[in-house]
Amino acid sequence: MKLLVVGGGGREHAIIKSLKKNPTVTEIFACPGNGGIAADATCVAIGATDIEKIVEFAVANAIDYAVVAPDDPLVLGCVDALEAKGIPCFGPRANAAIIEGSKVFSKNLMKKYGIPTAEYEVFEDMAAALAYLETAPIPTVIKADGLALGKGVIIAQTREEAKQAVIDMMEGGIFGKSGSRVVIEEFLTGPEVSVLAFTDGNVVKPMVSSMDHKRIGDNDTGLNTGGMGTVAPNPYYTADIADECMKAIFLPTIAAMNAENRTFKGCLYFGLMLTPKGPKVIEYNCRFGDPETQVVLPLLESDLLTVMQATTNGTLAETEVKFADKHACCVILASNGYPTSYKKGFEMTFTPEALEHTYVAGAKLDGGKLVTSGGRVTGTTAIASSLEEAIKEAYRLSDGVQFEGAYRRSDIGQRALQALK
Ligand code: AMP
Ligand code: GLY
Repeated sequence: MKLLVVGGGGREHAIIKSLKKNPTVTEIFACPGNGGIAADATCVAIGATDIEKIVEFAVANAIDYAVVAPDDPLVLGCVDALEAKGIPCFGPRANAAIIEGSKVFSKNLMKKYGIPTAEYEVFEDMAAALAYLETAPIPTVIKADGLALGKGVIIAQTREEAKQAVIDMMEGGIFGKSGSRVVIEEFLTGPEVSVLAFTDGNVVKPMVSSMDHKRIGDNDTGLNTGGMGTVAPNPYYTADIADECMKAIFLPTIAAMNAENRTFKGCLYFGLMLTPKGPKVIEYNCRFGDPETQVVLPLLESDLLTVMQATTNGTLAETEVKFADKHACCVILASNGYPTSYKKGFEMTFTPEALEHTYVAGAKLDGGKLVTSGGRVTGTTAIASSLEEAIKEAYRLSDGVQFEGAYRRSDIGQRALQALK
């Protein structure tokens, strides 16, 4: 089987390493991949949103199966375009990817079908949004409607901050067209859980739960990032809560998408908050999370390609999706200065052991050397029978990845560890 993976970050590296375990896989191409992924796949210099060229490449190279990993090509219809040429894909079509592509769509879907989420209002008119904020409960949450690289969410602690966020999005255009409509929603509290789930549109098979660490600084301080580390499973996500989420959130979401003629196939990501009033949906993503994937897939015991194909073929009900009864921790190394400004081009070195456990997110090959090329550079994952050991081992292994200015949080997994105690 010849596979194509669209994307080029740590998540895609984890997906590729997992797919490679299937003995029928003869070749994997990545569009565009990255310098680290090049060790595990043939990287092709086509951007993840250059759908026309991706399709052309897939046809010319007789790709048997394609995995579209990032949000933007999914929202732009990459799966639709590949399927139109007869290439089966993992991932939702554009009409279902809208569940991530538009917050207004997803909020209205949840309201219509009674899926628990924060109370909200939608505004297309700035004056109306500002007027609403005069009396809205504070803190409040302002969200740009469209994709905004995970940065379109502002938690405003004061009325002034909330108004400024609305002005920045609707007038200042800081998120471009994504901010021309905004959602203003109720501020929720409680532990956050990420649940990625395979679905073929009929059944849902959740993967092991995980916990992201979104802020740049220790103890969840500082700016939001793409994610500085993850652990799985998430200790807050008990079996009872999982049952409740299946009944009140996962199955109703799949049914709602079917009722709207937007059948979702692929990986549906539920960003949940376990509030005092029960689990609520903070956001849906139409894809694997990054860096959740880097802890979830290493725990997957079933064959990833088989499960992915089952979501495409509608045979997920009879396909086993099994996870190891172990713990995983992933520690991200970022460029000094991320998520604001940082320098690139620093040479990277790995101990052989670290290399084996590391997914490369932001690096390129420069005259045969691997150099940094992004904000988040690597993610190093360890698996162990306890969370404590997994954390210790992930940090030990991540010591074996070096480049100038490498920054990591020192407390990945500590909150989860406290929760277990
Ligand atoms: P998102 O980009 O949608 O993942 O949101 C970023 C982060 O903002 C989430 O992980 C939450 O920590 C926080 N957040 C989003 N919506 C809410 C809400 N309604 N109440 C409290 N926190 C929220
Ligand atoms: N880790 C959150 C995301 O992938 O959006």
